[in-house]
Amino acid sequence: MQLLLFVAVWLQILSTVAGYPNGAPVDRCGNMTPGHNVLPQTSSSPYTIMISNNTFRPNEPIRVMIEGPVYLGVLLQARSSSGTDAIGTWGIPPPNTKYLACSGNGQSAITHSSIINKNNKTIYTWIPPESLQTAFIRATVVANRTTFWINLTSERLTRAPGGGGNTAADAKMAAASVVFLTLLSSMVVQ
Ligand SMILES: *[C@@H]1O[C@H](CO)[C@@H](O)[C@H](O)[C@H]1NC(C)=O
Ligand SMILES: *[C@@H]1O[C@H](CO)[C@@H](O)[C@H](O)[C@H]1NC(C)=O
Ligand SMILES: *[C@@H]1O[C@H](CO)[C@@H](O)[C@H](O)[C@H]1NC(C)=O
Ligand SMILES: *[C@@H]1O[C@H](CO)[C@@H](O)[C@H](O)[C@H]1NC(C)=O
Repeated sequence: MQLLLFVAVWLQILSTVAGYPNGAPVDRCGNMTPGHNVLPQTSSSPYTIMISNNTFRPNEPIRVMIEGPVYLGVLLQARSSSGTDAIGTWGIPPPNTKYLACSGNGQSAITHSSIINKNNKTIYTWIPPESLQTAFIRATVVANRTTFWINLTSERLTRAPGGGGNTAADAKMAAASVVFLTLLSSMVVQ
């Protein structure tokens, strides 16, 4: 009987936060919360999501660090101001983390691959896509089995003005001026 109780309690513990010792599953992509058995902390978080730059250019990596005490679990995505889509891609996951395929893109999120400690020297890199103006990094950080914070966000990232590839509007403008110049030159020839 005591053994059964022990097993039951142990299973309960395993099914809580550390129940994902190999990382968050894909069905957590949207709300970014771990299991259902433990509630997120509502206290202010000891973790801060740091970014290497507040401006970005498409395809130029931004470093992302989680400052604070050591942590076991993580789920990281970049999002635009609205919606739950995970945007862009992440560079090679640092040790004890791995990709999670959110939003139909195999490299659009990062989660832990083991519950070996990660710390504020663990560096993640986010690679901004084309055609994006603004984004932020959103994280869930799991300190231990029973303690985690959701909805952690970095400061806002804004696309650097000029350079780094054409926006759709730039492309239309360029196409329009080609048409205009072609018309002009055909008029001159006549
Ligand atoms: C920040 O990003 C901009 C381009 O978006 C770049 O010109 C600048 O050098 C970057 N600064 C640092 C400190 O990386
Ligand atoms: C970084 O982690 C170390 C070791 O856990 C800790 O002593 C230090 O306070 C942390 N730094 C910050 C800024 O959280
Ligand atoms: C879990 O982490 C929190 C926050 O760092 C800490 O206050 C708490 O003591 C930890 N609990 C255990 C069981 O390690
Ligand atoms: C997290 O954000 C969602 C909305 O995105 C909100 O419904 C929820 O209350 C927030 N939870 C915490 C603990 O901040």
